[in-house]
Amino acid sequence: MIHISGAKSIEGKQLDFTIKSQTERQIDATGLTIFPGLIDPHVHFRTPGMEQKEDWQTGALAAIHGGYTTVFDMPNTIPPTCTAILFQEKKQLIDSQLKQAGIPLRYQLYFGADKNHFSEIHKVKQTAIGIKIFMGCSTGNLVIDDDESLHAVFAIAATQNLMVAVHAEDEDMIKLRKKQYASSQHYCDHSRVRDVDVAARAVEKAIALTRIYGNRLYVLHASSKDEIELIKQAKVAGLPVFAETTPHHLFLNETAYSDLGGRAVVNPPLRTEDHRAALFRALRDGTIDTIGSDHAPHLPTEKALPYGQCPSGMPGIETTLPLLITAFHAGLISLERIISLTCTTPREIFGLEKNDDIVLVDLNKTKMIDEKNLKTKCGWSAFAGKVLQGWPVYTVLDGLLFELSRDQL
Ligand code: DOR
Ligand code: ZN
Repeated sequence: MIHISGAKSIEGKQLDFTIKSQTERQIDATGLTIFPGLIDPHVHFRTPGMEQKEDWQTGALAAIHGGYTTVFDMPNTIPPTCTAILFQEKKQLIDSQLKQAGIPLRYQLYFGADKNHFSEIHKVKQTAIGIKIFMGCSTGNLVIDDDESLHAVFAIAATQNLMVAVHAEDEDMIKLRKKQYASSQHYCDHSRVRDVDVAARAVEKAIALTRIYGNRLYVLHASSKDEIELIKQAKVAGLPVFAETTPHHLFLNETAYSDLGGRAVVNPPLRTEDHRAALFRALRDGTIDTIGSDHAPHLPTEKALPYGQCPSGMPGIETTLPLLITAFHAGLISLERIISLTCTTPREIFGLEKNDDIVLVDLNKTKMIDEKNLKTKCGWSAFAGKVLQGWPVYTVLDGLLFELSRDQL
């Protein structure tokens, strides 16, 4: 049993309680606030095939340190997770890596929609958390870029009662803009090649398909007010449409290219300040349902490559909660809303069972993000050097207590 005393709920009520465990521990949690174990509905932990960037030993450690006890992993691995056998093999690899790490991280896997493997989808209807469709190319080679195939996947998803999660960027529009910017040397042109219209067009298409087929739709990493407006209208129309945004779209804008260079390159790209501010409003008004870190580690050497060769994506799972709590201190979001976005709403949308996992957070702990303390294998953060207020101190996952590193400023 783990006996926790002195901790407070987010409402400030003192709670002493016990969590079932194989070991006997007494925790004096005076000054700490109880959060539920968080759910990250969007990570790329890179197994199989890209374990030089991340694996489930380092990824799970990073998750625990970020206050997350459940993650949903994406299928754009090598090979991509687009057959039932590959899905099973991936699970086995993950289980063995988690065993080695000694971290029983809870996880779910997305199944990748691939034109040559539509007949595989029904085989994972009980086991996959949903079908991921890349409507535009990103890391890896999964993409569904023609209307006929898009109709086919949405139709199958509806009959199999699988959530459709879309990376909503229109491939034809990206191709066109890539030609215009073919000789660009500037990372900031990434936000032009994949501009807001590229994302909005794809969201519009995905919602139209949802209207036809009646599937549930989860819009990954909404990045702009245009996407938000479309999602809001779909919700008003009563469609089962849900939206996620990311910490980098919430806390960075296009000005980040000048400091971060290739490290700021993500898909969909960072936007201008007005879009960033609109995302915050949508967090508060309920148009955005969840926050996914889109933890997409790439090596520093890869991110230093010139524009065109530099891969898209940044790590995020370790810094999402401190960023959000720092925003709470700035009066931008409530703790209730943070818990809803990072735990209770994703749990409801995806039908996960409740568990006893908790995170004990020191809301006032101030710490600078120091890359050498990060657990992610890629070893960098776009927020390095930032001082954040509000850090997890203990994470309890399935009755196992993790005491997180106490590195101070
Ligand atoms: O920036 C991104 N990185 N966006 C994606 O869609 C994929 C991800 C990755 O896997 O690197
Ligand atoms: Zn992603």
